[in-house]
Amino acid sequence: MAKLLYNGKGIETETGRTVLEVLRENGAGPEAPCGGRGRCGKCRVRTDGAFSPVTESEAALLTPEDLSAGIRLACCCRVEGDGTVECMGEKASQIVAGFDESRLKTEHSWGSGVGMAADIGTTTVAVYCYDLEAGKCLSAASEMNRQREFGADVISRIEACGKAPAALYRQQALIAEQLNRLMGEYAGRARAAVIAGNTTMLHLLAGLDPSGMAQSPFIPQSLFGVECSGEQLGLRVNGPVYLSPCVSAYVGGDITAGMTACGLDRPGPPRLYVDVGTNGEMALAANGTIWCCSAAAGPAFEGAHIRCGCGSAPGAVSRVWLEPDGSLGFATIGGGKPRGICGSGLIDLTAALLAGGRMDETGRLETAEIFLADGVFLTQQDVREMQLAKAAIAAGIDTLLHDSGVSLSQVEEAYIAGGFGAHIHPGPAAEIGLLPAPLLGRFKTVGNGAGLGACGALLSDSLRERLERVSDSCRYRELSGNAFFNDAFINRMCFKPVEE
Ligand code: FES
Repeated sequence: MAKLLYNGKGIETETGRTVLEVLRENGAGPEAPCGGRGRCGKCRVRTDGAFSPVTESEAALLTPEDLSAGIRLACCCRVEGDGTVECMGEKASQIVAGFDESRLKTEHSWGSGVGMAADIGTTTVAVYCYDLEAGKCLSAASEMNRQREFGADVISRIEACGKAPAALYRQQALIAEQLNRLMGEYAGRARAAVIAGNTTMLHLLAGLDPSGMAQSPFIPQSLFGVECSGEQLGLRVNGPVYLSPCVSAYVGGDITAGMTACGLDRPGPPRLYVDVGTNGEMALAANGTIWCCSAAAGPAFEGAHIRCGCGSAPGAVSRVWLEPDGSLGFATIGGGKPRGICGSGLIDLTAALLAGGRMDETGRLETAEIFLADGVFLTQQDVREMQLAKAAIAAGIDTLLHDSGVSLSQVEEAYIAGGFGAHIHPGPAAEIGLLPAPLLGRFKTVGNGAGLGACGALLSDSLRERLERVSDSCRYRELSGNAFFNDAFINRMCFKPVEE
């Protein structure tokens, strides 16, 4: 046995186990976007004491300075005796910005008291507590999803459940505990709740095994659209908890909530809804039908699998431009020292490199690495990750347009939602072919569409009824094995604008 001191707390453990395993068992630990496979380099911890020798992965992903300062990757470093461990990952706990509650109408039958609305994203969990009578937001808080220790993407988390049932229970407990904590002083006081989330996140919250969604034919155990009790889910809510309805394994209750909040279920001209997150979900409302699909975009836009990638937090390079002399200018969130590149910065950066001739249409960089600042750079591999993500989204939009028989010129509005949707700059996104160039001027950013839909459904019975029905209008297009999508995906790999 060995003793570890972790952030001031003593932990007893057997030797030979990875630091990540030990920390996880103790309800702690850094983010592990690659699921502990030693590939992403993000599970950095500072160690001192008896640990295993540096592995090949660590030598490749950490600098000599890191290693001499005792920095290790928690998933590679094994406990050999007593020591101390300090977590170095970001802990993004912040108030949700830009939430416009004036867009919500209060007309519900819950009665008075506190209500809770939540959006469980693969990357971020957001919780809003409301005074049900006044319709006033009392608190809003978000954090990185604690389930990230099982991987950044839904597939890693589903696979973890397939390997060990304990991973399902652990992920259920993590999300329930996180929602309760984010309710702050209102935990135990809420009398009703509405929760939106993608199909996997809702499975994990409900304690249902999501393994059937990992491979074709992608069968979920439930499409939700049901009311449970807070107690059943381990939530400190004294009353009903409505889980938003899903359309399929990969068009979930976050998308139905966002689409309903944007009125896609209402009659009108063709409108597009794009949620750019770990997965790219797209919907096109036309002639009384909502055509929808989901493309595995990968978590590149959320900073995972990108060497200097990070979330949209202070210090993230969020805006990049080409200066008149051909050099790159940039701005960070909060204006401080750059510490990584977030999704919008990545899009801007590739658009600027393309415009400046430092990256060609195929995505080949003029040098293996392009430096923005000390320690903040873009690699050729990052561009390849980004290329797959943007081609998947662009080809998904192509497929919906093709199947619905709608042309880009007919699309009146395009709503951009998702983790970093509010930060996307449509111009650069159109220049690299992520979003269709003919729609410039028709994009509307909706921020956290799923959160807005969940809050709307909490405060309005009629919006909740529309949410309950929205999946009936949806026509889901499966993209895996879809010949049109496959061709479009190859066509959209080039970094160039998508025209009509
Ligand atoms: S390298 Fe350890 S979790 Fe990715």
